[in-house]
Amino acid sequence: MSVQNKLRRLTAVDIAKRKGGEKVVSLTAYHAHTAGIVDQYVDFILVGDSLGNVMHGLETTVPVTLEMMILQGLAVMRGSSRALVVVDMPFGSYEESPQQAFHNAARILKETGAGAVKLEGGKHMAETVAFMTRRGVPVMGHVGLTPQSVNTMGGFRVQGRSEEGQKALEEDAMAISEAGAFAIVMEGIVEPVARRITEAVPAVTIGIGASPACDGQVLVLEDMLGLNEWVPKFVRKFGSLRAHIEEAVAAYAEAVREESFPGPEHVYGEKPK
Ligand code: KIV
Repeated sequence: MSVQNKLRRLTAVDIAKRKGGEKVVSLTAYHAHTAGIVDQYVDFILVGDSLGNVMHGLETTVPVTLEMMILQGLAVMRGSSRALVVVDMPFGSYEESPQQAFHNAARILKETGAGAVKLEGGKHMAETVAFMTRRGVPVMGHVGLTPQSVNTMGGFRVQGRSEEGQKALEEDAMAISEAGAFAIVMEGIVEPVARRITEAVPAVTIGIGASPACDGQVLVLEDMLGLNEWVPKFVRKFGSLRAHIEEAVAAYAEAVREESFPGPEHVYGEKPK
């Protein structure tokens, strides 16, 4: 290589170095405009497959496709310039074999320009994570409540309540970390278990409904902005956008009906002859 460009964005390696140090901050984004806003404040932007629920009104993330993830990943890359962008691998795009996972992860990295991918699963995905990381794909794991497995888990349930479940979670996180994942999202895990895992694994842990002891935290942007009426227990609404939007939409509808909008300042005059 004759010219080596300096990377403008944070990388998976930068995030990995934060183990036990300054907290890693993350939010989801699916569009260029929201990516542009969160880019200034977070360390990584997660293009989560929760876009299936949030943008498309799907009941689960199972129907989300690779094409949907690439399209929104690209939008987020266009809208941001500083944060690492991590794109979720959707259900069915990586579970079959390490080769399938590498092939589709390479598509995501090449077609979006994102810096890492995320996939769900514990011990059974360790071989795949090792295969990918050895071939240049930075992988973020995701253990605990893994929404893509909703059909086998029988619902969205907090994980690690039983002794057996706790042991399985600890083994899952360790296996993914040892396989080379630079970070692991821990979702819906009882607090002491998430804390113990954070102390035990070399990978940076990112909590969502897990523990304040995690190395970082992630939330779905629309949840923390207060766009949804119902949010899970682990979400704090840092804004109340739903009420603001409703107020603005109602004011617009009223203005159109009473003919006060558009006003003279909103219309174009004829060109003077
Ligand atoms: O898809 C998503 O938004 C996620 C977060 C909940 C971590 O995976």
